Amino acid sequence: MVEQAATGLAPKRKVDYGLDAPGVQRGFRLWGLAGIVVGITLTQLQVHGFLPKAFQFASSLTWTGACFFVQGCIFYWASKAGKLRLRDKMINSIAWRGDENVLDVGCGHGLMLLAAAKRLNTGHATGIDVWSQVDQATNSPEATLENARLEGVADRVTVQSADARKLPFPDASFDVVLSSFVIHNLHSVADREQIIREINRVLKPNGQLAIADIKHTREYSIVLRGLGWSNLRRWFPNFLFVMPTYVLRGSKP
Ligand SMILES: C[S@@+](CC[C@H](N)C(=O)[O-])C[C@H]1O[C@@H](n2cnc3c(N)ncnc32)[C@H](O)[C@@H]1O
Repeated sequence: MVEQAATGLAPKRKVDYGLDAPGVQRGFRLWGLAGIVVGITLTQLQVHGFLPKAFQFASSLTWTGACFFVQGCIFYWASKAGKLRLRDKMINSIAWRGDENVLDVGCGHGLMLLAAAKRLNTGHATGIDVWSQVDQATNSPEATLENARLEGVADRVTVQSADARKLPFPDASFDVVLSSFVIHNLHSVADREQIIREINRVLKPNGQLAIADIKHTREYSIVLRGLGWSNLRRWFPNFLFVMPTYVLRGSKP
């Protein structure tokens, strides 16, 4: 089903590309703070003789808490700012003509979708998603369309509710397929392979592919090579989310 333009949303002043894995981020920061507070308290009690020497471990609790808290803050920065730099690098790696038909698999708030749409004149960009609130806070087609309006590309963008494992498009429909931080959310190898096969199916011959993910990119490349892809490269990793993010870039044979 094709979602229509945003309705009933309070006007936003700024484009918001969403907060990834909000529960995980909150957990890191809250558990981190708890570790710091409990660690400092126990250390002080031990230093002042209210607790036995065995409580010396409390200082490592403080440091562990601090590491969790910092990691939670890095996640926040990566979601709000770091990811935008990686997006630009991925979008700039494609030689745009302006007439492409583009698909963003798991578009969320439209990070890749809208950046691609800005490179189009006669082309069109479609984003599909299941709008999981666990994977990205305040995820909805309305929020993505509102971002499209704010970015001035609403006339070139469609969003659609669909599962990446069963893309509702005919074979060879797209010139470019993009996806960022999506496929790892599927926990079974078979599901991830199904998505890669679907991406391969809907891409035209010579179609361009760029996938960024924090896990399993080697697995995706093995599936694609099995489908005959030879022009495929995994970029040197970056550490936006602390763990390595790889970009898989290639073109369909
Ligand atoms: C971490 S967010 C990333 C969103 C966006 N690509 C970005 O980089 O900002 C992961 C997205 O994948 C979507 N998603 C998860 N499983 C999906 C599936 N089976 N099919 C389509 N989208 C899915 C979620 O709803 C969410 O929007």
